[in-house]
Amino acid sequence: MAGRRQRGARRETTSMALVEVQVPDIGDFKDVAVIEVLVQPGDTVKAEQSLITVESDKASMEIPSSHAGVIKELKVKVGDKVSQGSAIAVLEAAQGVAAPPPAGEARPAPASQPAAAPPSAAAAAPEPAPAAHAGAELASQPVERIPPTAALPPHEPAAPKGRLPHASPSVRKLARELGVPLEEVQGTGPKGRITQEDVQGFVKKVMAGEVQTQAQKAKAPAQAGGGALPGLLPWPQVDFAKFGPIERKDLSRIKKISGANLHRNWVMIPHVTNHEDADITELEAFRVQLNKENEKSGVKVTMLAFLIKACVAALKKFPEFNASLDGEQLVLKQYYHIGFAADTPNGLVVPVIKDADKKGVLQIAKETAELAAKAREGKLSPADMSGGCFSISSLGGIGGTYFTPIINAPEVAILGVCKSAMKPVWDGTQFVPRLMLPLSLSWDHRVIDGASAARFNAYLASVLADFRRVML
Ligand code: COA
Repeated sequence: MAGRRQRGARRETTSMALVEVQVPDIGDFKDVAVIEVLVQPGDTVKAEQSLITVESDKASMEIPSSHAGVIKELKVKVGDKVSQGSAIAVLEAAQGVAAPPPAGEARPAPASQPAAAPPSAAAAAPEPAPAAHAGAELASQPVERIPPTAALPPHEPAAPKGRLPHASPSVRKLARELGVPLEEVQGTGPKGRITQEDVQGFVKKVMAGEVQTQAQKAKAPAQAGGGALPGLLPWPQVDFAKFGPIERKDLSRIKKISGANLHRNWVMIPHVTNHEDADITELEAFRVQLNKENEKSGVKVTMLAFLIKACVAALKKFPEFNASLDGEQLVLKQYYHIGFAADTPNGLVVPVIKDADKKGVLQIAKETAELAAKAREGKLSPADMSGGCFSISSLGGIGGTYFTPIINAPEVAILGVCKSAMKPVWDGTQFVPRLMLPLSLSWDHRVIDGASAARFNAYLASVLADFRRVML
């Protein structure tokens, strides 16, 4: 039965033009279930047009009409069992019984037989007759086609190849014609069978942007990076639910935007990261003392405020860090707007302290606190986040030692800061406990050389170790 399509046998019911179409010789199969009735009384059918689909435990096949004509009566319904000789329908033959159509016996039914092409190949090929897949004997048999109305873009479904979706041959044919990856369609029929309505519903959802095919999803990251990168493997498609319970959650708006930016920056900028430790023993003592003195002022002096001021000093000393690349030119900025990464419930944002060179540490501490509060409330304006020259990502309040911050294009460097810790430091005669602050500077190697980065870091560390250097 697999891979064959038997033209319905016929019996003349009158000497006029009424014909009873019967189930033809279908090999050893008996009492196979009718799983689909494809026509209704009153329908005009062509010779070889499928009338019903039957399915055994091994395969399914379509039974086409032996004649062209009008269906007068159906003799079967879904769920009936049929064997060779069972009546399918009575039709009024268009040309009378004296002129049966040319003999044609088989059309493959690639639904579930192992010999059929894998679903990926079948679904990827939009047009060839099903016989071409199964190697059945009558590949040239004319096949009634439903004109595609809203075909999806060509795709190669990436669903696990072992899982064959449960669908009748006519539904498979429709899916092939519309370019629908059946593996991704949720069946609503009996036992999860995919119906024609399921396929059409899937197309509507894809066209409305409500769902993406696996192929579209696989392409999305590459598109976000500025186009597919040739030679890269497709993104892994994993049916996570196979391994345990899962929940799906949309990315926040901020994550979608920042993710696309981070991806572009990571892919397009040749990053290098230098690490350094700054001795902030005295600076931290000074900060604590300042906060005690200013307890009533309501402004907390933070390490971040000192870092911003120290970075301004380093940017002044190494101007190529306060720059942006524009084609083959470097744009050197004569202003010092410093961004700082702020963690919010909806994702990462980078508000900017404008003209940090003209502001004192207390003013900077006040502004960072205000901007961080605005960020957490989702109230930052585009102006609050624009114009940055250099960014600081401080994880110091959270923990960690070193990391690789991603440069915030079109800037050319970013400073990552982790949690300070007391460490034994050799002072030339003995180990002494010092509060050391881990610094990680990522820089764009198109603009900055490793030696400059090491100098920038060493200078920054020296400023933090003795803040009087800011005045020099
Ligand atoms: N080492 C040790 N402790 C540090 C520290 C450091 N480098 N930096 C801050 N701390 C401590 C502070 O002393 C403070 O402790 P206290 O409450 O006992 O006084 C606490 O951490 C909070 O620090 P505070 O100065 O109030 O805030 P902050 O400047 O550390 O953080 C933001 C402000 C906006 C930067 C912060 O809220 C934030 O969002 N950080 C995450 C940034 C991020 O996600 N970066 C990753 C980008 S990939």
